[in-house]
Amino acid sequence: MAKLGLVMIAPTVLTADPDLARPPAGWLAQARMPLPDAQATENLAQALAAHLRPGDTLLLQGQLGAGKSHFARALIRTLIGDGGATAEVPSPSFTLVQTYDTPHGEVWHADLYRLSDPQEMLELGLDLAMHQAICLIEWPDRIAPDWPVGAVCLRFETPADAPQTRLLTLIALQASDLATRLLAVVGRP
Ligand SMILES: Nc1ncnc2c1ncn2[C@@H]1O[C@H](COP(=O)(O)OP(=O)(O)OP(=O)(O)O)[C@@H](O)[C@H]1O
Ligand SMILES: [Mg+2]
Repeated sequence: MAKLGLVMIAPTVLTADPDLARPPAGWLAQARMPLPDAQATENLAQALAAHLRPGDTLLLQGQLGAGKSHFARALIRTLIGDGGATAEVPSPSFTLVQTYDTPHGEVWHADLYRLSDPQEMLELGLDLAMHQAICLIEWPDRIAPDWPVGAVCLRFETPADAPQTRLLTLIALQASDLATRLLAVVGRP
């Protein structure tokens, strides 16, 4: 597989974004890559999809319009496989959760922007799903700092000097198995 240019960085604490939740203690930025256009975001999603399995959670963090749903849609379509390219993958902005049966297991796509209380996570069944499904969670800021320890946060940022592009940062606990798996796929030069 072609390498995607995710650059390993010395684990570092992120610069603060006043609108995004600060990752919990111990979570560090471990890699960064530029995403020059929407196709680059799709390419990244497609490359990561093959290395996800039930029980994995990706926390998709970023401002409104950062590209979280765009990434999730490409990832879900890849997991669906045959027929996925044209599959309907609506944003869960209003339903909060959309689920999909794929050959790689069940996928939950959640958008917590409108979550009024973190307790609603339980009502949605998301806490259980995180053990059994591949979970893609937009606006994890709503449940910070209670991020699942095994999850990986992908933060999408819009650089001030290049607003038509995005910058991706992979953030996780250093011992995270999922982070190690994802970095091995896309991070090695
Ligand atoms: N790397 C990129 N460079 C430039 N544009 C991108 C990139 N990735 C995605 N986009 C574009 O960003 C736009 C907004 O994306 P999207 O709807 O996925 O945002 P979002 O983060 O889910 O926002 P919200 O918080 O409102 O749900 C889309 O039009 C998409 O094409
Ligand atoms: Mg979205």
